[in-house]
Amino acid sequence: MLSCLRPWWLAMAVLLGLGVVRPAYAFPTTAFLAHYWRTPAPLGGVHRPRWPVFETRLAPRTCALCHAAQYDAWRESRHARAMGPGVIAQLAVAGVRARAFVRGCLSCHAPGRRQWREVEAFIRGGRLHGLARFGVSCADCHVRRYQRFGPPLAAFIAAGRVVHNGFTPEAAFTRSRFCAVCHQFHRDGARLHGVLLEDTYNEWHDSRYRKQGITCQSCHMPGGRHSFLGIHNRRFVRRAVRVRWHIADCGQRRVCARLSLTNRGAGHDFPTYTTPKVVMRIAQLCGKAVCAGTGRRFVIARRISLDLRHEYFDTRLAPGATRTLSYAQPRDPAATAVEADITVYPDAAYVRFFHAYLGAYRMTAAEHALIERALVHDERSAYVLWRAYHVLAAAGCCRQAGMK
Ligand code: HEC
Ligand code: HEC
Ligand code: HEC
Ligand code: HEC
Ligand code: HEC
Repeated sequence: MLSCLRPWWLAMAVLLGLGVVRPAYAFPTTAFLAHYWRTPAPLGGVHRPRWPVFETRLAPRTCALCHAAQYDAWRESRHARAMGPGVIAQLAVAGVRARAFVRGCLSCHAPGRRQWREVEAFIRGGRLHGLARFGVSCADCHVRRYQRFGPPLAAFIAAGRVVHNGFTPEAAFTRSRFCAVCHQFHRDGARLHGVLLEDTYNEWHDSRYRKQGITCQSCHMPGGRHSFLGIHNRRFVRRAVRVRWHIADCGQRRVCARLSLTNRGAGHDFPTYTTPKVVMRIAQLCGKAVCAGTGRRFVIARRISLDLRHEYFDTRLAPGATRTLSYAQPRDPAATAVEADITVYPDAAYVRFFHAYLGAYRMTAAEHALIERALVHDERSAYVLWRAYHVLAAAGCCRQAGMK
């Protein structure tokens, strides 16, 4: 049997090597990673190793007994919430028959085999419990068949096999490729205008960061911290952009200003996905309100239609790039000040999507409530990144004074 399979297998390997038949990765992967990230990922297995019971438990809280720092940071991260109400409601609405759809989502949101079983039980009617509730958990990234995998750390290797039969050090944990499985669509994934809808790895790959050896982990896990901060965190984003604000003197009848934003610290487009929206805005204030018709704005986003078939615009900032909103408008006679701000809506597309979703699908009261919760949550995630306020000199005062 084996011997007659082997020539076929060899031929396949040659073809793979020549790139005639290639797995549709849009990013380079390694044999280790391709195998490691096959889903559903076997985190445990039927054969429990004969370790103390708590060492075979895969719940994050068990890991916390010994890896408290990683746990505390991860718990606050988006990875720990990757099975939020917006995701599980959609899986429930899709139902058991939409198995391929559900599994597609789970391959990024909860890739463990155990989690798939838990989700399928939930969809058949029940509660979501077990490891699936945690989304991208410690075990999803670190455990296969109970065995631990992690970055090579000289200190630990020297310590010998203390618990869980030691661990397997893998350099892949320190590379951007490790994150690409979930943060980069495969080559045959959805595209618009030729660009994949999720293209973070490639954006990074084409930037100066790759050449400088600055990886996803360098920025999102500094010093090994498992906080995975991103667009939802104001301070993290503020440090990554440069804002320039300038009011020019262009006479008494007009107001002139310039607001610019530079992506100086995100290792990919700012923002990288089609879901957030960043709005730069300048307006004249009449008292506390915006003087009618004086507002101007510029939206930074890759805006696509909800059915993912049309791209309206793509104004995202590649690493190092700058966008400028220039303002030159007639001065409103009642204007007392100029106001400028930059507001981030991390979940803008989901707000649109959930509004449409509520109207489009028949669902149970419980599913409806979950989507409502996701919607409220996503509406509340917006924040003001930067703001300026500039008092205007009383209209007409000075020039007229000078003419007398
Ligand atoms: C999204 C994948 C991911 C998740 C989820 C995750 N880790 Fe990690 N972990 C990594 C990567 C990548 C590294 C290597 C980081 C580096 O050194 O650049 C790492 C490093 C580690 C290390 C090695 C020591 C260190 O700090 O560098 C330990 C221990 C660890 N993780 C435990 C955990 C525990 C416990 C959890 C859950 C609370 C967890 N990890 C969740 C990806 C993950
Ligand atoms: C290739 C990996 C991948 C696949 C497949 C995937 N997602 Fe996601 N999903 C992500 C990433 C990364 C984010 C975070 C970035 C963002 O907000 O767009 C996300 C965010 C989300 C969010 C918003 C965050 C939240 O928790 O409310 C929802 C809802 C969601 N996904 C639902 C789904 C559904 C439903 C499917 C299946 C049809 C799916 N995803 C398939 C990677 C994936
Ligand atoms: C009883 C304490 C204990 C528990 C519980 C525990 N670990 Fe560990 N872990 C250790 C120790 C000690 C090491 C150092 C390596 C060794 O000798 O085993 C380690 C090493 C690791 C490494 C390799 C770190 C590196 O440098 O690459 C990873 C990853 C890891 N553990 C993940 C986990 C995960 C995930 C869980 C929960 C499912 C977990 N551990 C539960 C004590 C523990
Ligand atoms: C198993 C799939 C998977 C892997 C591997 C993975 N992620 Fe994620 N990541 C996700 C999903 C799903 C989300 C969205 C969670 C949500 O918002 O519901 C996400 C969200 C994020 C966010 C978003 C934070 C924000 O504010 O929107 C960052 C940053 C991130 N991941 C970084 C990383 C890095 C760095 C790595 C590699 C060390 C990595 N991820 C590996 C699935 C993954
Ligand atoms: C030089 C630092 C840096 C590097 C390298 C980097 N990022 Fe980011 N990343 C950021 C900053 C800053 C943000 C917040 C601003 C933004 O959203 O672009 C961010 C945001 C994100 C988000 C939030 C979603 C969004 O729409 O922006 C995800 C997901 C993410 N990064 C994943 C990755 C992955 C995967 C890699 C590696 C391929 C990576 N990042 C490399 C700095 C970095």
